[in-house]
Amino acid sequence: MKKNIILIGFMGTGKSSLGRRLARRLGYKFIDTDSAIEKVTGKTVAQIFRKDGEIRFRSEEKLQVRKLSGQSGLVVATGGGTVLDQENVDLLKQNGIFICLRADPEIILQRVKNKKRRPLLSRGDLWENITRLLKERDSSYEIAELTVDTGKLSFDEALNQIRKFLQ
Ligand code: S3P
Repeated sequence: MKKNIILIGFMGTGKSSLGRRLARRLGYKFIDTDSAIEKVTGKTVAQIFRKDGEIRFRSEEKLQVRKLSGQSGLVVATGGGTVLDQENVDLLKQNGIFICLRADPEIILQRVKNKKRRPLLSRGDLWENITRLLKERDSSYEIAELTVDTGKLSFDEALNQIRKFLQ
């Protein structure tokens, strides 16, 4: 059974864009948990946070995690907060390999600057939010077997590093 490749890491580290390409190269199916949530709820992530609250978003996220952890041959782009929940980690680990994407806060700032779709970053000072959340979450991303710096590597270099690791 082909293990799922679970991309974890902070917002703006490239989980979705890199994941899509990685899936194509490996011949795996690509799933983005945020997009899956948007599809089943008919709302954007930002709308869910605003109208229903973060708790509701996290329960939708868990439903997606449950669903995909029973499948195989997937590349999964998780949301930045997915692995803060231990049950999600346990479910994903059953048939998955965790790969973390990281980037320095300065790079993350540039990448998320003009995007209004990230509710956890949109209130207050963007730089303060990024650095605070990064500090809070650092240890949760340490479960990964491989960490790839998408700020220092090109897309292709990052993909090659992941493929080499998977061989
Ligand atoms: C979140 C990250 C987002 C999305 C939601 C919450 C987080 O996903 O799931 O806004 O808690 O870090 P991306 O990491 O794809 O931006």
